[in-house]
Amino acid sequence: MNRKVTVVGAGHVGATVARGVADKELADVVLLDILEGVPQGKALDMLEACPIEGSDARVLGTNDYADTAGSDVVVITAGIARKPGMSRDDLLQTNFKIMKAVTENIVQHSPGCIVVPVTNPLDVMCQVVYKVSGLPRERVVGMAGVLDSARMRTFIAAELKVSVENTHAFVLGGHGDTMVPLPRYSTVAGIPITELLDQATIDRIVTRTANGGAEIVKLLGTGSAYYAPGSAATEMVEAILKDKKKILPCSTYLQGEYGIDGVFVGVPVKLGAGGVEDIIEIRLEAGERAALEKSANAVRELVAVVGV
Ligand SMILES: NC(=O)c1ccc[n+]([C@@H]2O[C@H](COP(=O)([O-])OP(=O)(O)OC[C@H]3O[C@@H](n4cnc5c(N)ncnc54)[C@H](O)[C@@H]3O)[C@@H](O)[C@H]2O)c1
Repeated sequence: MNRKVTVVGAGHVGATVARGVADKELADVVLLDILEGVPQGKALDMLEACPIEGSDARVLGTNDYADTAGSDVVVITAGIARKPGMSRDDLLQTNFKIMKAVTENIVQHSPGCIVVPVTNPLDVMCQVVYKVSGLPRERVVGMAGVLDSARMRTFIAAELKVSVENTHAFVLGGHGDTMVPLPRYSTVAGIPITELLDQATIDRIVTRTANGGAEIVKLLGTGSAYYAPGSAATEMVEAILKDKKKILPCSTYLQGEYGIDGVFVGVPVKLGAGGVEDIIEIRLEAGERAALEKSANAVRELVAVVGV
């Protein structure tokens, strides 16, 4: 296999992404962590699953960035996760330092890569990677909207008792308390859910989507979600490596689109071999636009705290 994906952070999310990429035989995988033995052990375990999965992907665990050289895509999951009662923003300072160090190492060894940050607070971490790496904006694309939309799709399908495959959902904005689920653009077999569900039910789905991460943090008691986040990041890696040109809600650096400038926010993008190949501007109603701006401002405030 000649494609290479590095996953930095061999914790819950990182290992799940690595497994997804290897199982789907999308690329060879390098799993890197500062913990000695953990990435090596998990990588070997995944490699031994490959004969069963029918994948010839090579999976390598390492603590050495030299092994990541020449990666096509680098997914960053390194950092601390939320504990009950914590918001994503509480992770800011610790993960900022980790993200900065990881980014410097990545670009040194894979200057041509596309980076998919996953670490929270997501949009701010994207901004850190973008500023520290010096990569063009097309090649830094954050994972959040795909996950938030998948959560909303799950709830829509359960409510209407239809296949999840028939559902489509759009969640825009920063990956935090100010995210912006868009019922008007969320459909079942092409029919907007606003025609299928009453307002109270839609409100309930929207609230549950916005609190989707916290619901799982509370249930787990320690740590945060990783199966759906892992699947979401894997879908993005697949869209890039297969040049699918898939329209997905991702965190991207806006330069005037949606009237927002100089900050990472989740909006629909076309994801392909070049990374973010286009930013899709959908028409928003005044309330939706205001919610998106509020979300962008929340990201801006955190960006100012770390000063990138
Ligand atoms: N964007 C999203 O939608 C989304 C969803 C879920 C989780 N997350 C975030 O992803 C991150 C990872 O979550 P998790 O559950 O996998 O956490 P985890 O604690 O299981 O794993 C984090 C891993 O990062 C490693 N690490 C720490 N510093 C490092 C460094 N400098 N270099 C390399 N590795 C380092 C740790 O050793 C650990 O193995 C968290 O910040 C979490 O909030 C984001």
